[in-house]
Parts: sequence; C-alpha cells; structure tokens
Amino acid sequence: MAGLRTTINPDKATPSDLFPNAPTPLREHDETTHFSIIDGQGNRVATTQTVNLLYGSGLIPVGAGFLLNDEMDDFALKPGTPNAFGVMGYEANAPKPGKRMLSSMTPTFMESKDKVAVLGTPGGSRIITMVLLGILGYDDGLNAQQVAALPRYHHQWLPDVIETEKGSLSAETVRKLRAMGHTVIVPGEVKGQRSSDAWGNMQTVEWNKATNAMDGGSDPRNPVGKAEVRFDKAKVH
Ligand code: DON
Repeated sequence: MAGLRTTINPDKATPSDLFPNAPTPLREHDETTHFSIIDGQGNRVATTQTVNLLYGSGLIPVGAGFLLNDEMDDFALKPGTPNAFGVMGYEANAPKPGKRMLSSMTPTFMESKDKVAVLGTPGGSRIITMVLLGILGYDDGLNAQQVAALPRYHHQWLPDVIETEKGSLSAETVRKLRAMGHTVIVPGEVKGQRSSDAWGNMQTVEWNKATNAMDGGSDPRNPVGKAEVRFDKAKVH
C-alpha cells in the first residue's frame, strides 16, 4: 500500500491513458467457446469447450494458469433437482462412476452426398435447440451466415415453458401458442423469469462438395466472433 501511495501525485490529476495496462478486449465467451473448422483438405473439427458457469469454480491451481470448471453442477446432486440451467437430473446422472452428466454441448457435423457442415454454440441447455434450429436451417437451404443468425426459441421439457429470444417469435405466433396452452416466455414481459435478449454464439462452416466452395457463418450476436474463409476452394482429392 505504502508503495502504491508513493505513485500518487497529490497535486495533479493523472490522465488515465498514461496507465500502461488498458483493459484487453474480450476475445472469448465468458464460460463456453465453440470452434467450427474445415481445412483445405476437408478435415473438420467441431469443438465446444466449457468451464460451465462464469469463471467456473473460480479456482486456479497454483502456477497452472487456467481456471478449474464447475462442471459437477451438470451431475444431479439430488435426484429431481434441476441444475443451473433448469435441467432435471435423476439417479442416472448422480456424481458417481459409470453415471452420465447432463451435458447439452452439441458440437455437430452434418454430412450429405454434396455438402458438409460443421456447427455449434455455447448456451447451456439451449445449445441442443440452437444447433437443431441450425441443422433445420441448413436443411431448408440457408447459407452459413443465415444459419448463425437464425432467431431462437427453446423448450426443454422441464420447466414446461417455451423460452424465446427477443423478437424471435411474432406477437401473433406467441398469441397462438398461448391459445394452444403453451406457456411462452417473452424477454422483458415478466420480471424475474429466466430470459435474455440474445442467446448463444453460433460458429459454422459449410463446404459444398458439388461446387467445392467453402462458406463460414459467425453469430452476429457476438461482435468479436469472425467467420474466416482463407481459401474458397477445398483441394480434396
Ligand atoms: O455441458 C453443458 O451443457 C454445460 N456445462 C454448458 C455450459 C454453457 O454452455 C455455459 N455457457 N454459455
């Protein structure tokens, strides 16, 4: 403290931009990161990595330089008790050897005679639905950027509600779903509900084997994401 105090000039304000350590821009998602890659030989990678919640367990092993996750939350500590994403776990998900955790992470390859697509996103339990919407988008003929930008909505059995991203369903669709008996959560409508304006951070690449063209899509919700196509033709023999 005494050392720090000596750096303060009591008579003159110090301009903030004289300090050397300007904050580094956020390059990655806080908890979960997804990469989708196809290289010039047609090799492909879909990887979703996570520390689970913000800063994981908040613990760094001394000298290791990385955060420990808090993935134990994806096991059911007590049967019938939801995890942080509201996903219900039972005895099959107990934190014991031979049991399975409730991961929603869904790094995905789609492959047909003519096309290969790689896609994935962070987003907890909503990941599965976001990836499914992306798969259906490709199936409907959307390009990679359109797939990454698709509006999102989600139902995960329990809680028995349809969650929606802001503006993803029209007021008319919400009205019709409610008339059918669905509970629809619209961000901002009811205070305290699990809802947020924008979900996920989809990264996706598509290779059209018929034309040999590559295309990339990066979620417009995350301004630091970037789709990079370094070659527009794969060299696959
Ligand atoms: O495996 C899972 O489903 C969760 N641990 C993923 C966490 C996550 O995506 C949080 N970030 N957005």
